Amino acid sequence: MTKDSESGFGEALGRRAQQVETLLRQLLHNRPLSGEIDRPERLMAAMRHGVLNGGKRLRPFLLIETAALLAPKQDESAALRAAAALECVHCYSLIHDDLPAMDNDDLRRGQPTVHRAFDEATAILAGDALLTLAFAILADDEMDLPAERRTALILELARASGVGGMVGGQMLDLAGEGTLPGESEIIRTQAMKTGALIRFACEAGAITAGAGQEERERMAEFGSAIGLAFQLADDLLDLTADAATLGKSPGKDAAAGKATLAALHGEEWTRRQLGGLIEQAHALLEPFGDRAGLLRAAASFVATRDN
Ligand code: IPE
Ligand code: IPE
Ligand code: MG
Ligand code: MG
Ligand code: MG
Repeated sequence: MTKDSESGFGEALGRRAQQVETLLRQLLHNRPLSGEIDRPERLMAAMRHGVLNGGKRLRPFLLIETAALLAPKQDESAALRAAAALECVHCYSLIHDDLPAMDNDDLRRGQPTVHRAFDEATAILAGDALLTLAFAILADDEMDLPAERRTALILELARASGVGGMVGGQMLDLAGEGTLPGESEIIRTQAMKTGALIRFACEAGAITAGAGQEERERMAEFGSAIGLAFQLADDLLDLTADAATLGKSPGKDAAAGKATLAALHGEEWTRRQLGGLIEQAHALLEPFGDRAGLLRAAASFVATRDN
């Protein structure tokens, strides 16, 4: 990646993050919607703490830019809403991942984790409420998309986040603590706990765009490749980065007895693996030529990021 495309990507990511945050702020208001009775203030505050605290918003970026690539003339509002729904699921997964019963972390995005800033019960409920909010956002009539695309988004998000995706991966991840799982088990865990939501981001962009089956599968595969790379890089950062840059505490995986590929094989091997996955991701974008520049840069960013 040249310096120019790197800075162009950074700006584009920042711009999209702002758009998504504006929408998330609106969605996380205290006023109950029709069909809701009340929105308890403390719970809303905890949800906002877990969401509006400066994440990179990479998953929303992938969703919106995939939609923009495949349907450049389509209004972006549906992609933005789908991106906000996905970010709610991601933030819920982080709030629960940080709980004492799971990774027991005090720091997230450079701030106290939700159970630290509030309390454990509130953090559990904030996660629960974000998960259901995500599906309400997708099913809402405000989501300006034909019904079959909306249903497809709901189904795929449920699958990516549930027992066969993120939650199942978290189970395998915890079950693997203190054991020495084989390489294929580690890769399966990564593909589920982290890969599934990143894969969904890219596939959802294609669904929102109304793309055909072939493009949908291609983008899902692109998402899978960078999803694996994303967790490899996360594990490498856990080994090598400092808390100030990372915004969360490093060294947690080894302390928990978690076998990661980065820890097993070392930094050089991990960087080579990352290079291979990014090449694979770039190859999947070839049919789109220069128009896929931002997605190409996003793939490279996943491997070279420092937080
Ligand atoms: C961190 O995800 C958790 C993993 C899946 C490894 P991100 O690195 O995308 O976290 P934020 O959203 O930018 O804080
Ligand atoms: C978390 O993996 C994946 C999910 C939250 C689903 P990690 O436990 O490695 O994420 P960090 O390092 O705490 O962000
Ligand atoms: Mg974890
Ligand atoms: Mg964790
Ligand atoms: Mg980690």
